[in-house]
Amino acid sequence: MRWANVSRFATGMLVAGAAALSVYSVCQAQTTSAVPVVLRSANEFSSIANKNDRSIALFNEAAKVIDSPRCLNCHPVTNRPSQGDAMTPHQPLVLRGADGHGVAPMLCANCHRAENSDTGHVPGNPKWHLAPLSMAWQGKSIAQICAGIKDRSRNGDRDLAALVEHMSKDDLVGWAWKTDAGRKPALGTQAQFGGLIQAWVDSGAVCPPL
Ligand code: HEC
Ligand code: HEC
Repeated sequence: MRWANVSRFATGMLVAGAAALSVYSVCQAQTTSAVPVVLRSANEFSSIANKNDRSIALFNEAAKVIDSPRCLNCHPVTNRPSQGDAMTPHQPLVLRGADGHGVAPMLCANCHRAENSDTGHVPGNPKWHLAPLSMAWQGKSIAQICAGIKDRSRNGDRDLAALVEHMSKDDLVGWAWKTDAGRKPALGTQAQFGGLIQAWVDSGAVCPPL
């Protein structure tokens, strides 16, 4: 390469580098402002006097958990789970099968054992399987997810008390706070999340308007 070409090349690299840097900082700024950092507790909403408004505010707070990759990856709108914070399609290709436990020989339990494998970076839980299509959340608004969760024809025929029980006690839901090493847990604690759902039910289980 002649020197003139080398220096043109070097200038090109610098410009490209600067452009990449500025794109990077824009992305950074957007990410940090969009990602919620704390989960507020139910009692922090008691000052909202209007019961409907309070109920909606409580659900929106709980949605910081519901609408997070730890839950959404198992509640897809297709037959394939997604993975990671970027919610990319599950690798390798696995499909839900008749009951959410996969299609042989790619059954969920072949790889997802009763406990997390930190060395293998594989999440674990004895009940690990995909939520049915009627409970698909990915790509839906908080209001749509809320309506679906309350609809007994879609939610596994759960009344409101059963929903509180499931969200605050179920250990597959609870995995979201007991992730394998390197995977970000859901915000707050399952107890705090359960408290928000309980307070949402106590205030009339009002969903945000569709
Ligand atoms: C061949 C092994 C294998 C099979 C079979 C398998 N998985 Fe996975 N799965 C993995 C591995 C490995 C990861 C971790 C990938 C990563 O995030 O690096 C993973 C990650 C996931 C995640 C991402 C969790 C998160 O929040 O990031 C979900 C959800 C998931 N699997 C669901 C399923 C379901 C449901 C089935 C059955 C239908 C299944 N997997 C079958 C190996 C498998
Ligand atoms: C490993 C996969 C997996 C993960 C992770 C997961 N779920 Fe589920 N979820 C399921 C399956 C499977 C069902 C259906 C089983 C049932 O009805 O008991 C379900 C059902 C539900 C239901 C029943 C009602 C409905 O309409 O969806 C709720 C509520 C729920 N999950 C909440 C959550 C929340 C909140 C999280 C995250 C904190 C979460 N799930 C994480 C697999 C998962």
